[in-house]
Amino acid sequence: MTRRDLLRSAGMIASAAVLAAKPAARAAAAPPSGAALDPADLLDLPDFERAAKTVMSPMAWDYVSGAAADELTLRWNHEAYEHIRLNPRALIDVSQLDTRVRLLGRELAFPILLAPTAYQKLSHPDGELATVKGAGDADATMVLSSFSTVTLEEVAAAASHPLWFQLYVQPDRDFTRELVRRAEAAGYQALVVTIDTPVLGPRYRELRSKFTLPPGLDRANLRGLATATGARRPTEQNIFSATLDPKLTWKDIAWLRSITKLPVLLKGVQNPDDATLAVEAGVAGIIVSNHGARNLDTGPATIDSLPRVVAKVEGKIPVLVDGGIRRGTDVVKALGLGATAVLIGRPYVYGLAVDGARGVTRIVNILRREFESAMALCGRTSIAAIDSSVIWR
Ligand SMILES: Cc1cc2nc3c(=O)[nH]c(=O)nc-3n(C[C@H](O)[C@H](O)[C@H](O)COP(=O)(O)O)c2cc1C
Repeated sequence: MTRRDLLRSAGMIASAAVLAAKPAARAAAAPPSGAALDPADLLDLPDFERAAKTVMSPMAWDYVSGAAADELTLRWNHEAYEHIRLNPRALIDVSQLDTRVRLLGRELAFPILLAPTAYQKLSHPDGELATVKGAGDADATMVLSSFSTVTLEEVAAAASHPLWFQLYVQPDRDFTRELVRRAEAAGYQALVVTIDTPVLGPRYRELRSKFTLPPGLDRANLRGLATATGARRPTEQNIFSATLDPKLTWKDIAWLRSITKLPVLLKGVQNPDDATLAVEAGVAGIIVSNHGARNLDTGPATIDSLPRVVAKVEGKIPVLVDGGIRRGTDVVKALGLGATAVLIGRPYVYGLAVDGARGVTRIVNILRREFESAMALCGRTSIAAIDSSVIWR
């Protein structure tokens, strides 16, 4: 049985015809209206999202697009951006735009990164290998999930652009130490420790579509642990997940800093008081994130948390943000409210599902061009010029 057969039998792909088709034509296999659909016709991120729904298996779609409980925070992550107005400016020479930003001692061509997302082979047979190619072609930094379906070494070997590694601290600390060592050895440039997931939220869409890792897919980086395979989801009897450590505290952050030379960022800071503790803990940066609203429902939209966190951090370390970013104007708003850079999650997974590496590249390019357009229309020619006055008060 080939891997393609395995994926198909596991219900991970919409149809054999979708995969048999050339990548550029994959989205055409199940167009919503019956008319042929070419990825070249997809112009913005919502277009890709709609197309992704037609090519992904129902289980993969529910896993990626779903969130916790009533999915209120999922909605708020988006809606909060809609309520923020931008401040247009006229008659400023915007013929030269400089979108470069310095982050952790390195220059990024533009302030948009790919957030870590698990199990990418659910969305495309090449999974993380396609994403890393797409990210590299778009000149974007990818943050690889601990729960990738390709090993971190294989992804690094395929990379043409610097990578960061997202760490889920495992209950087995010796294994965690080894994972960190492997990420260092493979050349990852930062360690992004996810702190917003001591337990998973109740993700009913996932549960209804019977989310599981189909045969042939595993948590490739966890091989050697019993938890490398299987769904590992909470049950009605137990909220804990064997792949996450509910005992993680600030002491462990100090320990992690002591075992690595890599800069450590904390992902999932939402409460401003935690931002203060993060600065005191000496981390290199924080990512304001609510995990794409997949854990605590009815917590605030991340763009609403951002200014409070920024105020506590007082410029001592970079503050990044993710959650609900779908437009270039959202990126300008996040930077105007104090973010150094932003990350996107679901959008590039939809690009991956529709058109593999090319889809990932297009998602980044589309968002980047929208961002540049919004910068120009707000009269800002550099990242430093995007300050709080870009927001209409
Ligand atoms: C399908 C999926 C899988 C995710 N897996 C991880 C993960 O393995 N580690 C992690 O820190 N965050 C994970 N996240 C959260 C993302 O890194 C990010 O915070 C979130 O997707 C941002 O919101 P957005 O999807 O609205 O852009 C995941 C999100 C999604 C949608």
